[in-house]
Amino acid sequence: MGSFKWVPLLLNLCMLLSSKLILSDPFLNKQGLADIPSKFLNLAKRPEIHEYMVNIRRALHENPELGFEEFDTSKLIRNELDKMGIPYKYPIAVTGVVGYIGSGNPPFVAIRADMDALSMQEAVEWEHKSRVPGKMHACGHDAHVAMLLGAAKMLQEHRNDLEGTIMLVFQPAEEGGGGAKKMRDAGILANVDAIFGLHVSTLFPIGVVATRPGPVLAGSGFFEAIISGKGGHAAIPQHTIDPILASSNIIVSLQHLVSREADPLDSQVVTVAKFQGGHAFNVIPDSVTIGGTFRAFSKESFIQLKQRIEEVITLQAGVQRCNATINFDPDEKLFYPVTVNDKDLHEHFQNVAGHMLGKENIKEVTPTMGSEDFSFFTETIPGYFYFVGMVNETQGRLESGHSPYFRVNEDVLPYGAALHASLASTYLLDYHSQMPKQKASFHDEL
Ligand SMILES: *[C@@H]1O[C@H](CO)[C@@H](O)[C@H](O)[C@H]1NC(C)=O
Ligand SMILES: *[C@@H]1O[C@H](CO)[C@@H](O)[C@H](O)[C@H]1NC(C)=O
Ligand SMILES: [Zn+2]
Ligand SMILES: [Zn+2]
Repeated sequence: MGSFKWVPLLLNLCMLLSSKLILSDPFLNKQGLADIPSKFLNLAKRPEIHEYMVNIRRALHENPELGFEEFDTSKLIRNELDKMGIPYKYPIAVTGVVGYIGSGNPPFVAIRADMDALSMQEAVEWEHKSRVPGKMHACGHDAHVAMLLGAAKMLQEHRNDLEGTIMLVFQPAEEGGGGAKKMRDAGILANVDAIFGLHVSTLFPIGVVATRPGPVLAGSGFFEAIISGKGGHAAIPQHTIDPILASSNIIVSLQHLVSREADPLDSQVVTVAKFQGGHAFNVIPDSVTIGGTFRAFSKESFIQLKQRIEEVITLQAGVQRCNATINFDPDEKLFYPVTVNDKDLHEHFQNVAGHMLGKENIKEVTPTMGSEDFSFFTETIPGYFYFVGMVNETQGRLESGHSPYFRVNEDVLPYGAALHASLASTYLLDYHSQMPKQKASFHDEL
């Protein structure tokens, strides 16, 4: 997907028209691409849409549900989709819902929200505080669902202007459960050209979005290895094969992966956090279990690290006559890939967010070692993940996500809804405008 070619003349004309509240018909049209983002933001800020989202968000906030248990949340979503007349598929990955707006035919573009809460006690005292002890929407996923439903409401009103189909992806279990992986493995991405996801942020002001092309969140993996030798008397080592010494050497060798093999400017982590073996002072044990985590910012570095961890453990075990078996899925902990923002979608995002908020309000986010299971989507199809600021200095400081004091500034809801709606609808409108261009350049070459 290339960028749209914004036509300044038409843009001015459309702005003139909409400023006089003569909304040109149709609402979504190829000629007025540049105008769509601000039209959606204005629409999303109208009380009927904004209050709709606030009510949804508060209802969800009062009734937080953990990963793969989002039954009431999912039901609320389906009720809303029913009311809007939006068809959907359910259940996908236990509680997941996928709604469809538009022609039902290709091209398909997806916008995603996560539904799960965290197992922690809310410490904010307010009218809509969590009513479930020990559970809280402390990451803003309640706001994410509300934004996606707000976008759905706006898009559904203009579904006849869409050429193609917008998919609304409501996924379970982002917080460690890998709900995105289950949704992907259920085949929801078949024929989908692109997917967009967002996260509310307590680091940026309201009206600001933060993002970057390429890797944006780290890939994270876990490993556990059993190093087996031959146990025996600690005073007669020649009759044993000592897994404690072998494991110690393995741990030291693993530390050389980052210090000697990785590019110093390409951040990576390998940590052995678990070491279990032996019970007595005078017995060499049969085996030792070690385990840890590794992180990287590029898919290549991540794959390389994983491969080298396996090699170092098995080869170094062999040096001391031990055998090693490695498990990269301990306790069914999922391996989150790097979240990578597609370069072409970055251009699309810059256009859309730029026209909605102004280029100066698109900030570059520094990559963080955190992970997102949206990465399972970006691993399979071009995807784009960005942060939506919600700090308003006059309303006080916001605690970061996963804090029991976490609060959502509900003024952010129209921004998220408008970004979802604009990114997806202009993607489809622009998608078709690319077709003749590609044909034309083909002819030029001939
Ligand atoms: C390692 O594996 C080989 C092949 O299965 C086996 O013969 C050997 O006894 C094992 N060594 C130890 C220390 O477990
Ligand atoms: C920030 O909060 C103040 C006070 O509630 C409000 O008047 C203002 O509109 C808010 N700013 C934005 C950008 O939402
Ligand atoms: Zn979270
Ligand atoms: Zn989150």
